Amino acid sequence: MSTIGIIIGSTRPNRRGADIGAWVQEAAARRDDASFVLIDLRDFSLPHFDQAIPPAMGGTQSESAKAWANAIGECDGFIFVTAEYNQWLPGALKNAIDFVFAEWCNKAAGIVSYGAAGGLGAAGQLRQMCGQFGIADIPAQVRLTLEADFEDMSRFRPRATSAAALDTMLDQLTAWTSAMEPLRVAAPSALVH
Ligand SMILES: Cc1cc2nc3c(=O)[nH]c(=O)nc-3n(C[C@H](O)[C@H](O)[C@H](O)COP(=O)(O)O)c2cc1C
Repeated sequence: MSTIGIIIGSTRPNRRGADIGAWVQEAAARRDDASFVLIDLRDFSLPHFDQAIPPAMGGTQSESAKAWANAIGECDGFIFVTAEYNQWLPGALKNAIDFVFAEWCNKAAGIVSYGAAGGLGAAGQLRQMCGQFGIADIPAQVRLTLEADFEDMSRFRPRATSAAALDTMLDQLTAWTSAMEPLRVAAPSALVH
C-alpha cells in the first residue's frame, strides 16, 4: 500500500497550517487505499540551506537533513499544505524542498492551499517545482480562503464544498501515487536528471 506524506509547510507558532494539516489527516484516515503520515516541518529544525553538494548530485550530509530526507524518502506521494506569504510559498517550505532531490522523484502530489484568495500563487509555484522532480501534481486542489473557511478569519471551519474538494483530491492522489509506482521501481530518479 502507498504511503502519502501530509506536509505542513508553515512553521510559525500560531500558524493555521497545523489545524488544516489535522483536518487533512482526519479525512485521509477514513480511507483504506493508502496510509498517510503527518510530516511537520517544525519537527525537523532545518537550517537555511547549507549543503555543500547539491542534493541532485549526491546525498545529504547533516543529521537534520538526513532525517528530513528519510521522511520524504519513505513516502510514495505527498500532500502539500501550503500558506501564501507575500504572493509566494512560505520560505521554510521552499528551503525544505531544496534539501532533498531523489527522494521527491517520480512520486505524486496534491495541494491544499490557503490564504486570502485561496493561496493560488503558492500552489502555482509548487506545481512549477513539481516538474523539476518528475512529481505528478494532480489537478484536483483544495483552496481554502480565510474569509469562507475560517470563522472570524481565525477559527478553522471548512465549508462542506472544501471537504468535498479534499475527498476528490484524495481520490485522484491515491490513484496517481499507485500509477507512478512502476517509474519508482524501474528508475528511482534517473528519469529526471
Ligand atoms: C508574512 C506573511 C505574508 C502574507 N502574505 C499573504 C499573501 O501574499 N497572500 C495571502 O493570501 N495571504 C497572505 N498572508 C496571510 C496568510 O495567508 C495567513 O496568515 C495564513 O494563516 C498563513 O499561514 P500560517 O498561519 O500557516 O502561517 C500572509 C501572512 C504572513 C504572515
